[in-house]
Amino acid sequence: MLSQEENDLLTRVGPGTPGGKLLRSYWQPAALSEELPVGGAPLPVRLLGEELVLFRDEQGQPGLLGIHCAHRGADLSYGRLEDGGLRCIYHGWLYDVNGRCLEQPGEPTGSTFHERIRHTAYPCVEADDLILTYMGGGEPPLVPNYDFLTAPGHRLATKLYQECNYLQANEGNIDPVHHSFLHMRFGEGDDSRFSWYSSSKSPQIEIEEEEFGLRVYAVRRIDEERNYIKVTNFILPNLSAITGDADGYGVNWHVPIDDTHHWNYNVTYRRTQPLTVAPNGRTRESAVQAERARSKANRYLQNRAEMKDVTFSGLGKDFQAEDACVTEGAGPIQDRTAEHIASTDKAIVAARVIMLRAIRAVQAGLDPQNVVRDPARNAFPDLGAKKDIVPTALGWRRYWEAEGRERDMVSALTPAQLSLR
Ligand code: FES
Ligand SMILES: [Fe+2]
Repeated sequence: MLSQEENDLLTRVGPGTPGGKLLRSYWQPAALSEELPVGGAPLPVRLLGEELVLFRDEQGQPGLLGIHCAHRGADLSYGRLEDGGLRCIYHGWLYDVNGRCLEQPGEPTGSTFHERIRHTAYPCVEADDLILTYMGGGEPPLVPNYDFLTAPGHRLATKLYQECNYLQANEGNIDPVHHSFLHMRFGEGDDSRFSWYSSSKSPQIEIEEEEFGLRVYAVRRIDEERNYIKVTNFILPNLSAITGDADGYGVNWHVPIDDTHHWNYNVTYRRTQPLTVAPNGRTRESAVQAERARSKANRYLQNRAEMKDVTFSGLGKDFQAEDACVTEGAGPIQDRTAEHIASTDKAIVAARVIMLRAIRAVQAGLDPQNVVRDPARNAFPDLGAKKDIVPTALGWRRYWEAEGRERDMVSALTPAQLSLR
């Protein structure tokens, strides 16, 4: 259980809020690259409670500006892409990707008024199919060298609209027990992960604090000789590595639109092979899922008959609908003053402690944990998720040390590919 003050600290994301300042200390996804084709229309973007417009200039450089023109507030997403920037259609003011006002064509010849305009502008970086932005002000930190971010062609990002605060969704990623209930399927065979989830509903949960956040182990007993171990990672401040194996893993990156809505950027990463289709079936052509077939509006199409012998939840074996049903079901912002934290929530409790500590660091004027400015420290060899059948004699910690460190079969992006404009 949290106090109301703590819950507000963690969940409020608007400009000036402590939690918002924490999230603004890191690079965050602004859009998928394909939402902004070269020469295409500017894209209105609501991010961390701010109304913004994303556009590409004639060189293809992405820029993220305040959506309301600095002159008299017209919506710049209707603007013209020309002459090195974005031109407002009301009186023709022209902005570049840095927020400089290049022209005010209605002002008298020789006027220098335009030089004194600095419009809200956030730096952007394009990493393969994702446009990242830094909204924190001051010198941006390094773009993190997460292997899932720096493997062009070997990853596929899609985005899913979620009608709730970002935090309750990210907490679901580090909640291993729910696999034994919410995601249970019946009749999937006697030696499958579903049978292990079913027969071991109260797994041993272990946590280790890491530079990037938190590693979470869920150990389920299969039989005398074997354990099923699943490792997930909470990565500061709003993402988690989930469902991995030796060849890669998936990431859920919960990016607030505002306090009560977010995009879940789901990134699938494969070390050894190019990706064109994500495990959820989405492709680069169908990467944005703004409306789900199963949503709160239609009660997620829950099928009560299915609950008898097919699935525990009655939600059509749809993992994302299952997660959405329970996380959105907790309300626009989960009231954590009314919850009753159980022993199996220990990873969630630890992640909140880490987040609150990071918020206090930002309040003290410091960089929070997992903000990287030193190139020598911009490496994350142990970030991925993993799952395996492991001899009981090996133990959960030794499993990770012995088995979990194959990496870097795909070379990182060059600095030019990840250039910060
Ligand atoms: S409102 Fe944009 S130029 Fe006047
Ligand atoms: Fe889940």
